[in-house]
Amino acid sequence: MKKHLLLALFSGALGLLMINCNPKTDQRTMTESVQVQPKGTITVTTFGKLPDGTSIPQYTLTNNQGMTMKVIGYGGIITSLTAPDKNGKLEDVVLGYDSLEGYVAKSPYFGAIVGRYGNRIGKGKFTLDGKTYTLAQNNNGNSLHGGPAGFDKRVWTIEAYPVDNGTAIKLTYLSKDMEEGFPGNLQAEVIYHLTDKNELKISYKATTDKKTIVNLTQHTYFNLSGNTKTDILQHELMLNADKFVPVDKTLIPTGELKDVSGTPFDFKTPTAIGARIDKDDAQLKAGGGYDHCWVLNGPDDSLKLAGTLHDPATGRVMSVHTTEPGVQFYSGNFLDGSITGKFNTIYNKRYGLCLETEHFPDSPNQKNFPSVVLNPGEVYQTQTVYTFSVK
Ligand code: GLA
Repeated sequence: MKKHLLLALFSGALGLLMINCNPKTDQRTMTESVQVQPKGTITVTTFGKLPDGTSIPQYTLTNNQGMTMKVIGYGGIITSLTAPDKNGKLEDVVLGYDSLEGYVAKSPYFGAIVGRYGNRIGKGKFTLDGKTYTLAQNNNGNSLHGGPAGFDKRVWTIEAYPVDNGTAIKLTYLSKDMEEGFPGNLQAEVIYHLTDKNELKISYKATTDKKTIVNLTQHTYFNLSGNTKTDILQHELMLNADKFVPVDKTLIPTGELKDVSGTPFDFKTPTAIGARIDKDDAQLKAGGGYDHCWVLNGPDDSLKLAGTLHDPATGRVMSVHTTEPGVQFYSGNFLDGSITGKFNTIYNKRYGLCLETEHFPDSPNQKNFPSVVLNPGEVYQTQTVYTFSVK
């Protein structure tokens, strides 16, 4: 392994050391701990090796409340995130595997960065300036989550990122022109910032050299019971949305934005996820539960409340703010007990839920949905903040 200590910055009494690990050349096991804030640290270890020998680092970020987040270079996956319960007990609130092999062999996007296009594109086709692009149909005749080798399966470069409050890392990945069928060299950057206020701020950025489409999101499965003790049906969810995006049988939007009032999709007031999930409802049937995009109230491009999630048993609360127009609430319907994850837990149906902030599914083919087009010279920039507290 060749480790590059890029630079050491000193700001007042605080030392901040940036480490750049090149996954291709990393051969040794890394263990490095650097003080980046009075109580915040970043530690780097080796998580595992890909079949081609590429070494995958795991970064552990700790804030001054003791909350930790672990992130690996493969897929930019958040492998662990701890949050305190009402008694201050820190436990893991995300699903995942103990080892890299699990993520590589079979993962329903646990913890991963999803791109270039989060969620589905109908028939895997879209048109830009009269040219039709064809993507792999990896989900019932549609393209899902950027294709069979999307951003969740790519190796991201990680480096420490200087912040005033808490700790942060920057992940970068260059997606080559026509990778998975998408035009343009897309330079993507994601910053994971764990603040001392128990917020996980995720900032996404991308630029292209050819007109393209982009819709990045994060596919962490949350379970606020702590170390995944039970399913998420008792979690209470509030979504700040008057409308949702109905879908057809293959989960492609019909184009309508439907009022949630009087439907099981009304989460304007906090409601247990399990309260209506098995109701006789055509949309719930299509998704096998909740697997839909909600149209968030409030301005499209500025940070607004998307929703809150509360586990009454532990008191944990997670609120989500985003600059995105929508949030895909996926209630873990495809988890079927075939995966045993961390803590030796069998992930049965609805053992985790995702709140994927994003533009609406199939936007490239829906002229009434907000645009996902990125032109050369423009900067794609979005932010989502997950805040942990108790009540
Ligand atoms: C998204 C989709 C779901 C499913 C999961 C991954 O949330 O909307 O239908 O594909 O990802 O299993």
